[in-house]
Amino acid sequence: MAERRHLLDVDDLDREDMERVLDTARSFSEVLHRPIKKVPSLRGKTVVNLFYESSTRTRMSFEVAAKRLSADVLNFNVSTSSVEKGESFKDTALTLEAMGVDAVVVRHPVAGAPWLLRQWLQAAILNAGDGMHAHPTQALLDLFTMQERLGELQGRTIAFVGDILHSRVARSGIKACRAMGMKVLAVAPPTLLPPVALEGVVTGSDLDDVIPHCDVLYMLRIQMERQKEGRFPSLEEYTRLYQLNMQRLGKARPQVVVMHPGPMNRGVEIAAEVADAPHAAITAQVSAGVAIRMAVLFLLLGGSEGGEKVA
Ligand code: NCD
Repeated sequence: MAERRHLLDVDDLDREDMERVLDTARSFSEVLHRPIKKVPSLRGKTVVNLFYESSTRTRMSFEVAAKRLSADVLNFNVSTSSVEKGESFKDTALTLEAMGVDAVVVRHPVAGAPWLLRQWLQAAILNAGDGMHAHPTQALLDLFTMQERLGELQGRTIAFVGDILHSRVARSGIKACRAMGMKVLAVAPPTLLPPVALEGVVTGSDLDDVIPHCDVLYMLRIQMERQKEGRFPSLEEYTRLYQLNMQRLGKARPQVVVMHPGPMNRGVEIAAEVADAPHAAITAQVSAGVAIRMAVLFLLLGGSEGGEKVA
């Protein structure tokens, strides 16, 4: 990945690149368990978080990841910036670059926005979620979490369940899981499946049919903010057919891993008891996010020429 200076989607990475990110993240996750959780790898580098959409986990974990690597971090907040005075995306980006940033972590409601930044700026661009399109660091942290729970991923089965249509998490996650040799299922009401077939994915609408065959159940949030038109009759009906509740969990394999990217709608796509059950790896996903983002920043900004070791 050293010569590729950006991370826009998981297609930028082949399986070997992904393994390198996962291995590097494993070394960093060891650092995160030390009393002093900081290494000097990116001392003197500056990372800006440019978030045009709300975020808790992704923004905070990019920030903490950069800080743990000793980089300087700028957090750009749209609501208190000159975007409120009408400044364009391009001018905002050029302004930040003129301050000498080495990496821009961008989240934007428009699909493709990080690719525009790549054209305009010299800095490394990291996509932290663009519209309904891609979310590569989420896909990598999900692989990391699954490996921690399951070991080898080749041949394992994962079902993405719920609002796949609007989900950049599912779009990048599906590609990453397939690249690792997993069998991928997508389960949703027909109106929440993408109109164009997802390559290499078995789609269906009956969750109860699928549950006993999965190693991972990946529950997705219903994204109300991205749907103006009603895509299912009611939340009650959705919950009845698609919620992962204790009764459904009882039909799953004993070691099944339950995942969710957050933020959860407890009581809609996932029952509160399931979110808190030992099968759930939801907080492990958050911890993995810090290690993965450290790894990606390190490999893009410091990995080769910095010469400093992870430890
Ligand atoms: C997701 C996102 O923003 O794409 N959250 C995340 O990054 N962890 C998923 C969502 O909003 O449902």
